[in-house]
Amino acid sequence: MADEQTPFERLGGEGAVRALVDRFYDLMDLEPAYAGLRALHPATLEGSRDKLFWYLCGWLGGPNHYIERFGHPRLRARHLPYPIGNAERDQWMVCMAQALRECGVEPKLAEALRQAFQGTADWMRNRAG
Ligand code: HEM
Repeated sequence: MADEQTPFERLGGEGAVRALVDRFYDLMDLEPAYAGLRALHPATLEGSRDKLFWYLCGWLGGPNHYIERFGHPRLRARHLPYPIGNAERDQWMVCMAQALRECGVEPKLAEALRQAFQGTADWMRNRAG
């Protein structure tokens, strides 16, 4: 039954997760609206692409590539070196929403993922404002 599929399967497996992550970072690189978010990242985004891809595979209910490589994600701790407030969280969310749209993710699934990302993105904030 469709309801028993994981979000990873509904999205279309590893190829679809990789395409979403690649679109997300392409947009971050290209769109002036995400320049603040881009500036927090390293000069080259190749490592960031791989890490988010590995992380999201597991987060969506697919293979645990990230944990196999790095252990427990400790995601909030790993973000502490970067100042993340409301503006950075919102740019991350808008960039991801645009990537979900442009990758043609089915609207009901895209909305469910957007809501789930919102919780994680809120939790990542480490400074006021
Ligand atoms: C809320 C706004 C966010 C900002 C400003 C932000 C920014 C960053 C930055 C600057 C890095 C370092 C990139 C690198 O080491 O190449 C990073 C790493 C990472 N981010 Fe975020 N991030 C945000 C939210 C999220 C969310 C919501 C997720 C997951 C759903 C996520 C997942 C990751 C992962 C998996 C890494 C790699 C961690 C590591 O192994 O070092 N981030 N993020």
